[in-house]
Amino acid sequence: MTEPIYHLDRQASGPLYVQLKEQILHQVRLGGLRAGDRLPPTRDLARRLGINRGTVSAAYDELLDEGVLRSHVGRGTFVASEVPQGALRTPAVADGAIRWADHFAGAEPATRRRFPDTGGARVIPFHRNVPDETLFPSEAFRVALDSVLREEGGPLLGYAPAEGYPGFAEFLRSYAAETRGIEVDPGEVLVVNGSQQALDLICRTFLRPGDTVAVEEPTYTGALDLFRSFDVPVVAVPTDAQGILVDEAETLLARERPRFLYVMPTYQNPTGRSWSPLRRKALVSLAARFEVPVGEDDFDGELFYEEHPPAPLKSLPGSRGVIYIGTPSKTLFPGLRIGWILADAPVVDRLSRLKQVADLSGSQLLQAAFARFAAGEASVEHKLRVREVYRARRDHLLAALETHLPRGSSWTRPDGGMSLLVTLPAGADAEAVLAETAPRGILFTPGRWFFLGNESHRLRLCFGSVADSDIEPAVRVLSDAVRTVLGRSPRPGPAAESALPSV
Ligand SMILES: Cc1ncc(COP(=O)(O)O)c(C=O)c1O
Repeated sequence: MTEPIYHLDRQASGPLYVQLKEQILHQVRLGGLRAGDRLPPTRDLARRLGINRGTVSAAYDELLDEGVLRSHVGRGTFVASEVPQGALRTPAVADGAIRWADHFAGAEPATRRRFPDTGGARVIPFHRNVPDETLFPSEAFRVALDSVLREEGGPLLGYAPAEGYPGFAEFLRSYAAETRGIEVDPGEVLVVNGSQQALDLICRTFLRPGDTVAVEEPTYTGALDLFRSFDVPVVAVPTDAQGILVDEAETLLARERPRFLYVMPTYQNPTGRSWSPLRRKALVSLAARFEVPVGEDDFDGELFYEEHPPAPLKSLPGSRGVIYIGTPSKTLFPGLRIGWILADAPVVDRLSRLKQVADLSGSQLLQAAFARFAAGEASVEHKLRVREVYRARRDHLLAALETHLPRGSSWTRPDGGMSLLVTLPAGADAEAVLAETAPRGILFTPGRWFFLGNESHRLRLCFGSVADSDIEPAVRVLSDAVRTVLGRSPRPGPAAESALPSV
């Protein structure tokens, strides 16, 4: 039996134990849990879900009362051999309606993050890890788009060949060599629709039931959500200021034998930290020794504010097992939906065929326009400009945190990217702080979204899209909110659904 994955939403209305009970029932209805299957001990499940043991016991107790579960002293809790039909029935539906929830397969996709309602206040978007729209080079991009369309016309508007717009893979090869020092052969490039699609294709290519995925911790929420949607357990390797802890990685690879390891060695989301060259080298040789593929998500390696970052894993000797993912989403803009994978030819071939089955094609028009734009002077100017603007915002933010946050707080100091991670003094619950700042329009991301456990006293601040003049006043409000929360017990705020992806 594959252990089902439960996702509890702390911000949903209603008690957590009811959510857990409903999800266990749902698994019994779908056949994910069958008669005689043993449920995990309450202590284990509580630890895994980051909740109280009593919450798990309450869910089990109700299911025991309803005859769905049976417990045998000393042996544990099991799905009953004959579950009463009444217990399995979902609430009645109107004529002709269909209980969709009973038909959906797999885990619940968890993309809809809830932020508290700002009540119409102007939003200061510390929660959005996105570049500033006002800096997008729309005019220069329009010129590039216009010229490729004028020159190439109709064929540019058709489906793209599997390898993308003719010449685009070649362009990406030189782009990766020039910007990131990565040299790959012609058959080792795949054009995809954004790095998120690259990750999805990797999951669909490598994951089998019963597999485990390993990540560095903290890690990107969008990747965690994706891995969980494949119903596989995710295990984490801790990090420090120098990057992934290689000894811990070794222990975990030996113990868990994960199908792959997902990492962001450069300006990682959420901390903005980069791995040292030494850790990079050590991880590459470790992964090669264990033959574990490594997904290297290099989503913002070009957004550096001091020196160039250390070389990507994929450029190091012995990195054939590294599947590199690049994207223009943070350096340029995310609406292009372009990304690229650099990997060994058999991987590219397999992923490419899967991609064609999944979506037929990317947009040749946008690929051609991006290549034209990226080869021109406007691209160079744009990168210089955004680095300058984001560097200044980072510096303002670091100075404001230094001035205003209460003692006992700490934060990461990114040399690139657009985010940092704050650790609040013990007892300051980030979600309670968010409930205080939201009515003033100040939104940020609770740190627990980036961890497997419940890291309630951390928060991510993104500075890419926050105007300079908003940074200091917003940090003052944030700091006051932390003091308010520290002065009383935490209280969650009202929740409203956000329709935007959590990035
Ligand atoms: C670490 C990381 N990887 C990938 C992505 C998604 O990038 P793309 O727009 O290329 O799909 C994001 C978006 O925020 C991200 O933070």
